Amino acid sequence: MVTLGIIGAGRIGKVHTESIVNYVRNARIKTVADPYVSDETRDWLLKMGVGSVCGDYHEILNDPEIDAVLICSSTDTHSDISLEAIAAGKHVFCEKPIDHDLGRIKKVMEALSGSKLKYQVGFNRRHDHNFAAVKRAIDEGKVGDVHIIKITSRDPEPPSAQYAAVSGGMFLDMTIHDFDMVRYLAGCEAEEIYTQAAVLVDPEIGKAGDVDTAVITMKMASGAIAVIDNSRRAAYGYDQRAEVFGSKGMAATSNDTQSTVILSNAQGVTGEKPLYFFLERYMQSFATEVKGFVDAIENDTDTAVGAIDGLMPVLMGIAAKKSLDEHRPVKLSEIVY
Ligand SMILES: NC(=O)c1ccc[n+]([C@@H]2O[C@H](COP(=O)([O-])OP(=O)(O)OC[C@H]3O[C@@H](n4cnc5c(N)ncnc54)[C@H](O)[C@@H]3O)[C@@H](O)[C@H]2O)c1
Repeated sequence: MVTLGIIGAGRIGKVHTESIVNYVRNARIKTVADPYVSDETRDWLLKMGVGSVCGDYHEILNDPEIDAVLICSSTDTHSDISLEAIAAGKHVFCEKPIDHDLGRIKKVMEALSGSKLKYQVGFNRRHDHNFAAVKRAIDEGKVGDVHIIKITSRDPEPPSAQYAAVSGGMFLDMTIHDFDMVRYLAGCEAEEIYTQAAVLVDPEIGKAGDVDTAVITMKMASGAIAVIDNSRRAAYGYDQRAEVFGSKGMAATSNDTQSTVILSNAQGVTGEKPLYFFLERYMQSFATEVKGFVDAIENDTDTAVGAIDGLMPVLMGIAAKKSLDEHRPVKLSEIVY
């Protein structure tokens, strides 16, 4: 049994609490820390079976009974808390991103080097049943040599302009998951990135200095070509698909829906819209990723998504922004840190 502490009880902290309590039999949550926790959330956490709720995460780091922490607090706290947790000898599951600053991610990697501690980054989509099945098909040689990877990733509605202003921008906040997916499916790094992007959804996002629509192409080290298309608003809901085309065939996913019912009548033939957003669409993947983290601790095996996997998508996001700003393809090797 692995004893956990959760730092941050916002949206994702609650998702992980729920999935651990319901699906991860070899773990228990002893403490949740959040300085701004509401009475309602505190009551909910205690009802879920969490041992205690406190304001200061140092209580978790100083607790010798706690083996591992999940860092689910706001992005600007991730790298500092990671460093403190590693220094305290705790295994770490850190929500994405580790940081927006490559130098600070590198510091976390240095702190981990030579240590036996497990570190996992919350790129949950790798654990999604659809994307994992595409990866399996590639690994089993069913699509042959990979030539083209296409990722479609469109949100059902844009964030507020205030959020866009502090989130690090669309590439580091939203596309970061898609960069991770491209690396995961390609099995290698991107070498060059070219971005076309625009503000087509909400002018306020543009005023905040961000974009809301993008097509990003990448040349991978294997020679494969990848393309990500992003929108902050798809009128029909959360559109999350991938297609991998190779010398022997193609593996493609479609969206998950509430049901597979197709209604045929005099008006036409219709099916359900995609599941609404990430909480609905990716619940299974959140449970599977934390189960994998706990198993890695129990069995002393590598985590599925390590610190290097936290670094590379940020590097890709910075290169994508540079490409947009400078209207040219950017090599990843140009980004120094
Ligand atoms: N993997 C995913 O798909 C996914 C989805 C959502 C969010 N996230 C990531 O999770 C993080 C949190 O996002 P969210 O949507 O839950 O945000 P949120 O604002 O709902 O929750 C953040 C929580 O952290 C708490 N917090 C802030 N400073 C803290 C500290 N020092 N100690 C403890 N708690 C602290 C806040 O009080 C808040 O309750 C972000 O970095 C985000 O990128 C990942």
